[in-house]
Amino acid sequence: MDLIFATGNQNKLIEINKIIPKNINIISFKDLKFDEEVPENENTIKKNAIYKAKYIYNKFNINVFSDDTGLEVETLNGEPGVYSARYAGSSCNSKDNIKKLLRKLENKKNRNARFKTIIALILDNKTYTFEGLVEGKILKNPIGKNGFGYDSVFSPSGYNKSFAELTLNEKNLISHRSLAIKKLINFIS
Ligand code: IMP
Repeated sequence: MDLIFATGNQNKLIEINKIIPKNINIISFKDLKFDEEVPENENTIKKNAIYKAKYIYNKFNINVFSDDTGLEVETLNGEPGVYSARYAGSSCNSKDNIKKLLRKLENKKNRNARFKTIIALILDNKTYTFEGLVEGKILKNPIGKNGFGYDSVFSPSGYNKSFAELTLNEKNLISHRSLAIKKLINFIS
């Protein structure tokens, strides 16, 4: 079965490709020679995920799934959440986002946080969503070289390491994204 993975994020593509079974053929933006930025202007993670999947389905008329992810920090009332990618401003990168997050958490005792992924699947013009959550804590300083985004400041519950210190396989055992994609795989198989 052919499925577009609607993402321009190579890290997400690598993570998903490690999990997806061989009977699902992932079509990337690169395969489609598609290099537009898909808008992410909705006010919830779920709406963004659905918007991205529909945008690509309408363009290519091929079954598709998308991933929208946010980091929700308890003491910041769920911030940065849906605004995780542009937390420090629209032209900022992950380093800037992390800097802002750590500044906001200075002197805060409660460092509980979770990653939330919503995967939206459009299959024969019907929309389905799958959620993956992983609980953990925000570290005081970034550590680790693997992964991307906020991985270096997020330590999943039960681990004494950041996501960026885990191997890809270790992250995939427990991550928000892997939990959501496994639900999708169960659904279509
Ligand atoms: P989006 O899902 O691409 O909109 O990602 C939102 C923000 O969360 C971006 O800043 C990403 O870098 C970050 N992000 C998404 N997935 C992960 C992850 O698995 N680990 C760490 N950061 C992530």
